[in-house]
Amino acid sequence: MKQFGGFRLDTGNGCVWREGVRIALPPRPFMVLRYLVEHPGRLITHDELLDALWPETYVQPQVLRTYMLELRKLLGDDAAEPRFIQTLTKRGYCFVARVSDSEGEGDRGPGDTRQEATAAEGRRMVGRDEEMRRLHALKERAAGGHRQVIFVGGEAGIGKTALVDALCEGLGDGWGVARGQCVDGFAETEEYYPVIEAMSRLCAAGDGERACGVLERMAPAWSRGLGRTNVTASVTNSDRRPGDLCAALEQIAEQKPLALVFEDLHWGDEATLHLIGALARRRAPAKLLVVATWGAAGAEHPLRAMRQNLLMRQLCEELMLGPLPRDAVSRLVRQELGQEKLGQETLPAGLTAFVHQHAEGNPLFAIAIVEHLTARRFLVRDDADDARTWKLAGGFEEMELEVPERLAQMIELEIARLSAEEQRILGAGSVMGIAFPAWAVAAALEQDAAGIEEACAALARRVHFVERGGQDELPDGTRSEFYVFVHGLYREMLYRGLAATRRAEWHRRIAARLGEMFRGREWAVAREMAGHREAAGAWDGAVDALETGARHAREVREHGEARLLLEDALRLAEKLSGEERAERVRGLHREMGRGSGLRIVSGKA
Ligand SMILES: Nc1ncnc2c1ncn2[C@@H]1O[C@H](COP(=O)(O)OP(=O)(O)OP(=O)(O)O)[C@@H](O)[C@H]1O
Ligand SMILES: [Mg+2]
Repeated sequence: MKQFGGFRLDTGNGCVWREGVRIALPPRPFMVLRYLVEHPGRLITHDELLDALWPETYVQPQVLRTYMLELRKLLGDDAAEPRFIQTLTKRGYCFVARVSDSEGEGDRGPGDTRQEATAAEGRRMVGRDEEMRRLHALKERAAGGHRQVIFVGGEAGIGKTALVDALCEGLGDGWGVARGQCVDGFAETEEYYPVIEAMSRLCAAGDGERACGVLERMAPAWSRGLGRTNVTASVTNSDRRPGDLCAALEQIAEQKPLALVFEDLHWGDEATLHLIGALARRRAPAKLLVVATWGAAGAEHPLRAMRQNLLMRQLCEELMLGPLPRDAVSRLVRQELGQEKLGQETLPAGLTAFVHQHAEGNPLFAIAIVEHLTARRFLVRDDADDARTWKLAGGFEEMELEVPERLAQMIELEIARLSAEEQRILGAGSVMGIAFPAWAVAAALEQDAAGIEEACAALARRVHFVERGGQDELPDGTRSEFYVFVHGLYREMLYRGLAATRRAEWHRRIAARLGEMFRGREWAVAREMAGHREAAGAWDGAVDALETGARHAREVREHGEARLLLEDALRLAEKLSGEERAERVRGLHREMGRGSGLRIVSGKA
């Protein structure tokens, strides 16, 4: 782990530690901090940061400023006399504190199972070394009789299951393992569904006889109907007392430590959550390792409160999985293409960077993208080389156009889980791009901005669609929260899902609101305004906006900028028809002539 001025950067958990106290921070500010800490003592330009963290996506530079403010607050830093983050005006930032590696860096602990295959698919796990080390340490504690409850969280496809699989495989014969899977929609109707599944598996395992016996003796209502026992009497959930099961599990673990895995707890029922809570709270020594994964949990889902409660009391550990680093994605790509044993040169230049950029560190996305590239034959084996190497059939630009089918389906499913209102809000946000302020959504939906902010805040609390980006200061002095899509692909799918007329209408309303907000200073938002008007099909208005911007730029002697705006305006004017077009093109040429000091002799359109 990297250390600096009393802090430790925990990349495994996306947090920092100060004197043993965990300081949580949202994923994006954490990524910024991580980048700074990993590149100390030199100027990091805005562009470098944006390129490294949000390659290929437009992010309002303001986002960076907000993150720096947040980080300074968190580190107790002072912009005027920085101990950590120095702002180099108009250029970027410099991380000025001394950074050192704390002990253990680079070790490969016995729990580092990165070479272990990730379960069913036989895929080898890449990256996640720190997470595995941490899990290994917790497992050791559990084996020593200090029960552990661990929540593994992160967005869909980030590798929660893969991590838990690797952990379970690494446990070997010395451990008993019982897994239960929560299922979407079962929470209301099937109380304890994942617990019963886990107990069934435990009893049905090769050496499950003893566990089954203990259950029968200590928690008879739980053992009926499981694994090898026959159903002798019907059992209701009220007979199933959580305390009995906890005691039985502790007893089972006494001879052989026991790992209980619950997958996708955001779909879990309340009774199951209470049971896990009880396991975490009991004080008796027990060789129990409870690992629960969770993805998106609604604000109202009891899992959220339960986790926070346990965390606050230090009765559980939390591991949040962030994106895989570039080198891990690169290894994953090579592995997917069967190239892990061959040299770098067997893959087309830029391929792994392309995949990393689009997958944004999400392994499921990365795998789906590679699959898509080969299925569509963008990426083909090179016959000239005994098909050992791969080559590109076209340029990267063509590939940019598509979202792989599998991902599109997955994202559509995720979107479908949102309420209709949430879908509308995010759809309206997608009209703004990767980052969107609440005022724009409010304008598009003709709703009150405060209500939108509340809805977005609730959404941002659920992993993993949008997160809070900071605040926009509006010309009238009010502030508006803005949000950032966690993945460009989510934004893309939402935007695509909008009917063309609705999309155009929302763009039109946002342009109108921009116009009201910047009345008299329209030049300040010329490009944004033109963009929205263009998307709304209002070419004429878009040309107006750009021309206004260009005129202002000329007045303040920014001739280069004026020219760029006019060139854009000309491109748009071409979309007009007939006389209107000729007229506007002539006008724009005249305006250009003014800027350059040249007279245009023929105003040919
Ligand atoms: N570190 C990794 N190395 C190699 N492959 C990985 C890694 N992490 C995940 N994968 C692969 O990516 C895919 C998605 O991972 P996984 O199913 O573990 O994600 P998840 O977080 O459990 O997703 P969900 O929220 O849908 O349950 C799987 O095919 C898995 O094998
Ligand atoms: Mg999973």
